[in-house]
Amino acid sequence: MIYMDNAATTYPKPKAVADAIYHQILYMPGNAGRGTHPAALSAGNLLQETREALAKLFNISQSERIAFTMNITQALNVALLGYLKPGDHVISTDMEHNALARPLELLRKTGVQWSRISAGHGFDLDQLRRTIRPNTRMVCMLHASNVTGDIFPITEIGAICQEYDVRFLVDTAQSAGFVDIDVQRDHIDLLAFTGHKGLLGPQGVGGLYLRPGLILQPVITGGTGSFSESLEQPWFMPDLLESGTMNLPGIAGLKAALEFLRQTGKENLLQQERKHFQQLWEGLKEIPGVVLYGSGNVEQMTPVISFTIGQTNSLEIADYLEEKSHIFCRAGLHCAGLAHTAIGTFQTGTCRLSPGYFTRSEEIERVIQTVEQAAQKFK
Ligand SMILES: Cc1ncc(COP(=O)(O)O)c(C=O)c1O
Repeated sequence: MIYMDNAATTYPKPKAVADAIYHQILYMPGNAGRGTHPAALSAGNLLQETREALAKLFNISQSERIAFTMNITQALNVALLGYLKPGDHVISTDMEHNALARPLELLRKTGVQWSRISAGHGFDLDQLRRTIRPNTRMVCMLHASNVTGDIFPITEIGAICQEYDVRFLVDTAQSAGFVDIDVQRDHIDLLAFTGHKGLLGPQGVGGLYLRPGLILQPVITGGTGSFSESLEQPWFMPDLLESGTMNLPGIAGLKAALEFLRQTGKENLLQQERKHFQQLWEGLKEIPGVVLYGSGNVEQMTPVISFTIGQTNSLEIADYLEEKSHIFCRAGLHCAGLAHTAIGTFQTGTCRLSPGYFTRSEEIERVIQTVEQAAQKFK
């Protein structure tokens, strides 16, 4: 198998991640915040240490402002549904994943006004300035596209949000672990992340950072292990957004993954990813009949390459790659119908190849050869 679907979830995970999950399940009893015996305290420490590692990664000054969720979809829902009210105006791009677009559509039906900036062929900062209205309360958007790999200029966008006193929510699903993110430099008020992609952790863990001073209406309430005498949800972080038992094995895995990233070094990871990306892009762009999407500028992209061959349905191409060379990739609309409309591929979808840190150069060569054969077959 040649795994080219790291944008969906990274594979393989570092062995330390599996070891940590196994250790947590077998040897670590106790539930965080539930009890004062040593096992409960250790579970609490695990949460705290993982928050601290995340805080370091994103340059967050107060780690307790990070709440764990199941994934980034939940984090984005909590942020959007908890912040926006009827009559508010919100701005996103037209490249959003449904994890952000669907809650916005739900809110639009309740009276939230939603504008979309076109970003399929680059982000226009002036268009953002022109779109901000007196009632704009939030700009929310993905940092990097899961369809084209394009990275958007969040540092400049964050500065505009600060200038207009508008909250800035960033979906880092495709960028965390690949691209430097600094909530202070980038003026990010709310940052959503997922553990199982570039962070190399297991599935089932994500989270939301809230800038100090910012409060959301919680959409999920319940047991937090604190203030049990009250029927009100605690107002402080992380308890405000962390009801119910956390995924402790998953969080132990994420902690190990963050340690792997720290030890490997961001620069090494980035260099490796860019090498793969460049090899794949250079090889594919020479194949007659293959159309690539995204800017092609290696500095401004994550390792995600979408392509089409004429009007062939992308699912047929993916089947061919799998049958011919056991290449696992993702075709179709990638939970992002808006993005495919923006880049003009809504009818066919695209075939998306996403190499990862552990991909080997020979695998990329094989992928290029197989796409060449596909281009012959479907021309
Ligand atoms: C840009 C983007 N946002 C959100 C998500 C949703 O991630 P999760 O399924 O981990 O919630 C994805 C997943 O592919 C994504 O690419």
